Amino acid sequence: MVESGDKIDALLHETRRFEPPADFQARATISDAAIYDEADADPEAFWARMAGELSWFKPWDQVLDWQPPFAKWFIGGKLNVSYNCLDRHLEKKRNKAAIVWEGEPGDWKVYTYGDLHREVCQFANGLKSLGVQKGDRVAIYMPMIPELPIAMLACARIGAAHSVVFGGFSAESLRDRINDCQAKAVITADGGYRRGNSFPLKATVDEAVAETPSIEAVVTVRRTGTADDLMTEGRDHWYHDLIKDQPLTCEPEWMDSEDMLFLLYTSGTTGKPKGVVHTTGGYLTGAYTTTKFVFDLKEEDVYWCTADIGWVTGHSYLVYGPLSNGATSVMYEGTPDYPDWDRFWAIIEKYRCTICYTAPTAIRAFMRQGEEHPRKHDLTSLRLLGTVGEPINPEAWMWYWEHIGGGRCPVVDTWWQTETGSILITPLPGVTTLKPGSATRPFPGISAEVVDEKGKPVGRGEGGLLVITKPWPSMLRTIYGDPERYKEQYWSRFPNIYFTGDGARTDEEGYFWLLGRVDDVINVAAHRISTMEVESALVDHPAVAEAAAIGKNHEIKGQAVAAFVTVRKEIDPTDALAAELKQHVTKKIGAIARPDEIFFTAELPKTRSGKIMRRLLRDIAEGRAVGDTTTLADPNVIQKLKDQYAETEE
Ligand code: WTA
Repeated sequence: MVESGDKIDALLHETRRFEPPADFQARATISDAAIYDEADADPEAFWARMAGELSWFKPWDQVLDWQPPFAKWFIGGKLNVSYNCLDRHLEKKRNKAAIVWEGEPGDWKVYTYGDLHREVCQFANGLKSLGVQKGDRVAIYMPMIPELPIAMLACARIGAAHSVVFGGFSAESLRDRINDCQAKAVITADGGYRRGNSFPLKATVDEAVAETPSIEAVVTVRRTGTADDLMTEGRDHWYHDLIKDQPLTCEPEWMDSEDMLFLLYTSGTTGKPKGVVHTTGGYLTGAYTTTKFVFDLKEEDVYWCTADIGWVTGHSYLVYGPLSNGATSVMYEGTPDYPDWDRFWAIIEKYRCTICYTAPTAIRAFMRQGEEHPRKHDLTSLRLLGTVGEPINPEAWMWYWEHIGGGRCPVVDTWWQTETGSILITPLPGVTTLKPGSATRPFPGISAEVVDEKGKPVGRGEGGLLVITKPWPSMLRTIYGDPERYKEQYWSRFPNIYFTGDGARTDEEGYFWLLGRVDDVINVAAHRISTMEVESALVDHPAVAEAAAIGKNHEIKGQAVAAFVTVRKEIDPTDALAAELKQHVTKKIGAIARPDEIFFTAELPKTRSGKIMRRLLRDIAEGRAVGDTTTLADPNVIQKLKDQYAETEE
C-alpha cells in the first residue's frame, strides 16, 4: 500500500476474467492485437488510414499540426459530415434502416437512409430559407424524436454548428447557452413524452428567447400538440410547414477539416458551463473508427445506444458514429421504467437489437428492480453489450453480463469524456480479455498514462492521475470563446499533456481501472482512497443496489469515509445491515476504507446524465448549505436527504 499522499491507493482486487467467446472472435472485425502495434508504431499514419475510409471532397495536405495545446488534424482537407453519414451510403443502402425510432407511448417509425437523406436535405433548405448560413450557430432543444438527429445533420450539411441542449434543462440554462455562443436560431418541439406524461419545451424556449437578442428564428416540431397557440408571427415556424415545399436535395457545404461541427456545454464540477468545441474531420474520424471497432459493427447489426442526444454519448454513438458507418441506429424517446421496468428489454426483443450500449447507473437501477424484468423477454438477439459514463462496479458488470447478455456477449466498458469526443480506453471485443470493472486498454493510437502529482508515471498496480500524452483526432479544440480556460482546465497541470481530471490505476498487465473524478477522492489518514472502490465493495453485498462514498471531515484522520446506500427492493435497511456492510468493506478492500457511517436512502442525488453528485452529499454530511444544484436531475432528492440526515444526526 502506498504511503504517500500523491498517489491514489488501489484497494480493490478483481480476479474474474473473460476471454472473447470463440464464435464472437471468429467473426470479429478486429480479432488480432496487431492493430495496437500498428497504431503505436505510427499513430498519425493509423489515424490517416482510418480518416481515409471517410469521403473527402478534397484530401488533406498534412495529418497533424500540433502547437500545444492546440491541435489541427487533416489540414487542408474538405468534407461534409452529413454527406459522410447519408449520401455516401445511398447507392448500396438507400432502403436500409438508418434510424429505428420508438416513442415512449409506443408509436414507432423507421427512416431508411433514403428517407433520412431526403428529410435532412429538405430541412437544410428550410434552415437556409430562414437565413441560417455556414459559420452560424444553431441551438437544438428537443425531445428524443427523429427530428433531433435530422436537425443536427441539416446543420452539418449547411455548415452551421449545432449546440444541443438537453431537453431537461431550464429556460435559464438554455438562455445562457444560447447567449454564450450567439445562436441565430433554435430548433425545438412543442413537447415530448416522459414517464407517461408530456412535458413542455416550446413554452420554455419562449421564456429563454425573451432574453437572447441573437435569436432570429424558432422552429418547432409538433409532437404533443401543446404549442398551437404559442406561435409568434415572424419569428416562429412549424417544422412541417417549413420543409413541406423544399427541394428534395441540398448540396452539402465543403467544410474545412478544422471547421466547427458542434459545441456541447458541459458543466464540470464548478463554475459556468463550458462550450466544448469539436471540429469536422478529426471528430468524425474518431467517432467513425471507434464505433466500427469497439462495437464490431456488421452490416446486419441493430445497434442501440440508450443515451440521450443531449449528451456527448448520443452525439458520437447514436448519431455520427453509427450513421457514418452506415449502421442501423435505434433511438428511444422515454424512460426505462415506463410503463414498467422491462421497457428496455421489450425494445430489444421487438427490434431484435444485437448491440446495446448503456450507463452503469441504469444497470444498477435494473439490478435493484430484479431479474424478473429481463426474464420476461427474448434477449437472444444480443451479441455485444457496452457501458459508459461512470466506472462500472464489478457486480453491476456481472449482472449485465449474466442477466442481459446471457453469459454470451462481451461487455465493453468504454472510458471517454465530452472533451475527448470519442472513446479512448476500451476493450476491443474480439481481442481483449475482459476483467469486470476495468475499461482495459487505450484504443489503438491513443497514449494514456497514470502519473503522480509531478507528472511522473506511477508503477503498475498503483493509482494516480489519468493523462493523455499525445494529441488525438477527436480531441476538443478549445472552450468556445475562452481559450484561456481551455489551457487552464486541461493543460496547465502538466506541460503539453492532457489532464482528464480522473483518477486511475493500472494493474500488473497494464489494464486501466478508473477510480472516478480526482475531486472526489477521500483522504483517510494520508491514504488516498477512491470513492469508486468503496462503492464497488458495497455494491458487492447482495443487499445493496447503489452506493455513494464520500470523505467527511474528521479531527484525527483528516477525512472519514461515509457512505450513502440504497438497498435492493424488499430489503430492510436496519442497523444490523449497516454493521454488516462496514464489515463487508473491511473484508473486500481493507480496514482503511471501512465507512464510519452508513446512511440508508431511497435515492441518491444525480446529474441529469446519471452521475452521482458527491459534492452535494459532502455538503449534507458536513452540515453545510448545499452548493449549486442546477444540474441535478431531481432537486427534491436533496431536500429529502437533508431532512432525513439531520434527523439521524440528532
Ligand atoms: C466518467 C461521458 C469510468 C469519467 C462519455 C469521465 C467513466 C466523465 C467512464 C466524462 C468509464 C465516463 N469508466 N468513468 N467507462 N466513462 N466516465 O463528459 O469521470 O459526460 O471523466 O462524457 O465520466 O463524462 P462526460
